[in-house]
Amino acid sequence: MKAKLTINKSFEIAQIDPRIYGSFVEHLGRCVYDGIYEPGHPTADAMGFRDDVKALVKEMGTSFIRYPGGNFVSGYNWEDGIGPKENRPRRLELAWRSVETNEVGLHEFMHWVKEVGAEANMAVNLGTGSIDAARNIVEYCNHPGGTYWSDLRKQNGADAPFDIKTWCLGNEMDGPWQMGQKTATEYGRIAAEAGKLMRLIDKNIELVVCGSSHYEMPTFASWEAEVLEHTYEYADYLSLHRYYGNQKNDIGNYLAKSIDMDNFIKSVVAICDYIKAKKRSKKTMYLSFDEYNIWYHSGAADRKIAPWQVAPPLLEDAYNFEDALLMGCLVITLLKNSDRVKIACLAQLVNVIAPIMTEKNGPAWRQTTFYPFAHAAKFGQGTALTPVLDCPTYSSVDFDNVPYVESIAVHNHAENEVVVFAVNRSKDDNIDFAVDLQGFAPSGIAGFYEMSGHDVKRVNSKAGCPVEPQDGTGATLDGDTLKVALKPLSWNVIRITLE
Ligand code: AHR
Repeated sequence: MKAKLTINKSFEIAQIDPRIYGSFVEHLGRCVYDGIYEPGHPTADAMGFRDDVKALVKEMGTSFIRYPGGNFVSGYNWEDGIGPKENRPRRLELAWRSVETNEVGLHEFMHWVKEVGAEANMAVNLGTGSIDAARNIVEYCNHPGGTYWSDLRKQNGADAPFDIKTWCLGNEMDGPWQMGQKTATEYGRIAAEAGKLMRLIDKNIELVVCGSSHYEMPTFASWEAEVLEHTYEYADYLSLHRYYGNQKNDIGNYLAKSIDMDNFIKSVVAICDYIKAKKRSKKTMYLSFDEYNIWYHSGAADRKIAPWQVAPPLLEDAYNFEDALLMGCLVITLLKNSDRVKIACLAQLVNVIAPIMTEKNGPAWRQTTFYPFAHAAKFGQGTALTPVLDCPTYSSVDFDNVPYVESIAVHNHAENEVVVFAVNRSKDDNIDFAVDLQGFAPSGIAGFYEMSGHDVKRVNSKAGCPVEPQDGTGATLDGDTLKVALKPLSWNVIRITLE
């Protein structure tokens, strides 16, 4: 098979917002406790955070980390997580039916997020919580001093404000599983009032309002429209959440699920623009895809876990090679929509549907899905270029006209290179892939990283990580055209140096 990608230096989608390579740390399962935080571990720092995990988080290149939930935040009192640890309450945590010790709270998270070189994205509780608690946490985190909450922060050891810029107004408030579920009117009103108060304290913060929990929610579209009717003035981003799985063991259909992500984004953009038009507003609403991932391996194991434990092993999906290929398609899709998607969070980061796994008192390792994300975060910086793709297609159970190649190129100005990301979805065929680099003066191949040739069900584990990238061979330049053979079922990153 043959395929051709044409890019042009002048045909830009957008400058890529670094926050598109975000992730998510929720008080869920072993993400925080026995994940990022394990005071007894040989690599633990003075505050109890594992240095080996920090090193992997940095290597992954995640820029932005949402915290503390997720469903957890809808029942969380943020005040439980501040002050001396011995005074913090142990509580029943209803979202995941666990016990929350509150050993890790705001200050500990802010220490850790700084250590990993990322920006914090804080969520406030609009489930059981109030607009009062929402404004108080902003005062605690961002006000310099001289008031009750800001002085309490200083007393608790943080003299300088945390200066948290991006805030989520609740989480999945349309979901019946959510503590304090709301109708669109109820949520729209409380989000607008919380946002208004939070902005009165710090006019520089940015706010994310909840979109639907997923594309198939019965209220999808009308939820977004009504929530935006109430919050358009205060919100900067509308959230999207979506998880995928290969429940039917149909790889052709599974790898096409990034098309669902693309359709979902385009539908939400249309709703945002409808409200913009209706309000005759000059403001464009951007998107925060603040939960996306593959989530389906762990369901049966989760059902056997007894409730009311501290750090139960929930949602511990072991990702295989086909999951890594879909992850590649998902990050490419986010880049293709980088004109509107400014924030995206791979949910989650450690142990819980995560690219990084740990064993208590033992090692930490990279899951298969770690690599496409890490490659995109490292090399996918700069400007996303419009991909004009000429490629054979196939049909699957849920999708028609699925291109065998999913691809995008990025102009990385700082490194003076063009980086091409491509997934070959074909099980059987090499694809002779040509990339016409119009308007660029390519001078060489700086690197070619490839994942291919594995059994699709092969996983990484503490016993070994066989699914990892290799150096690819055979990428050449023919004038201004890159030529490369994309192996069947492969993830490919090709860095082209410019003159
Ligand atoms: O990421 C796991 C859970 O998925 C989050 O807590 C929730 O927001 C979503 O339903």
